[in-house]
Amino acid sequence: MEENFLSFAHTIAREAGAILLDGFRSKETVISYKSRTNLVTNIDNESEKFLFARISDQFPDHAIIAEEGSRKDSPGGYLWYVDPLDGTNNFAHGLPFFCISLGVYSTKSQKIVAGVVYNPYLDEMFTAIRGKGSYLNDKQISVSSLDDIGICIIATGFPYDKENMETNNTREFNLFLPRIQGIRRMGSAALDLCYVACGRLDGYWEGWLNAWDMAAGSLIVEEAGGSVTRYNGEPFNPAFPEIVASNGKIHKQMITILSL
Ligand code: IPD
Ligand code: CA
Ligand code: CA
Repeated sequence: MEENFLSFAHTIAREAGAILLDGFRSKETVISYKSRTNLVTNIDNESEKFLFARISDQFPDHAIIAEEGSRKDSPGGYLWYVDPLDGTNNFAHGLPFFCISLGVYSTKSQKIVAGVVYNPYLDEMFTAIRGKGSYLNDKQISVSSLDDIGICIIATGFPYDKENMETNNTREFNLFLPRIQGIRRMGSAALDLCYVACGRLDGYWEGWLNAWDMAAGSLIVEEAGGSVTRYNGEPFNPAFPEIVASNGKIHKQMITILSL
């Protein structure tokens, strides 16, 4: 069953990737603002329209929640979390670091069971099925092996609504910065998670995310041998807006820093 979801997700992510790449190279991309600091492009909407139609056609009894507002309720036992363009700010500024993220949640097991994250610019397809490992372009991947956070590279991100110092992640950023080797803010939560999964990053944390940012990537990290939790170490829940992901070996150290 999950194999069917994955091979279908693989196909439509590649097709949506072509939409993103065409938009990235075109001068016609239209930017509009959801708020002063939260922009969206016509390509986010085009990609979402395409993905929503394809998933609805293929699995009419599956539910869908997509970032730009497309919704479908259905009692079929599966829910697709769709981010049609993760890394919109990068995309709109000509920075080639963005992707499509598709995560399938089972209402029966209450877990993400399949996930695909595709970066069309680098042609990198990250995939996972629960219990079956994680892959980058069909090669199995695994997390890094560093166990001293002091020599690790960790990524994070900041919410669009940054005015409130309590919740804008600067507190956590200042706690991590002096305790690690390097910090990155790359601008795509889904790719940040995949980079933890394949060992390019050792860890990642972020608050104020949505399920469509994290669903696929969280499974890809777990299936690559990493750990994924909430800030307090409790099990990850896509409906709760925060995530800590790591190679597992530095997970406790990350949770301790977040608790300071
Ligand atoms: C954003 C990116 C970013 C993260 C933001 C997300 P979007 O998603 O994943 O890295 O820091 O919190 O909202 O808007 O590009 O789909
Ligand atoms: Ca996103
Ligand atoms: Ca998005």
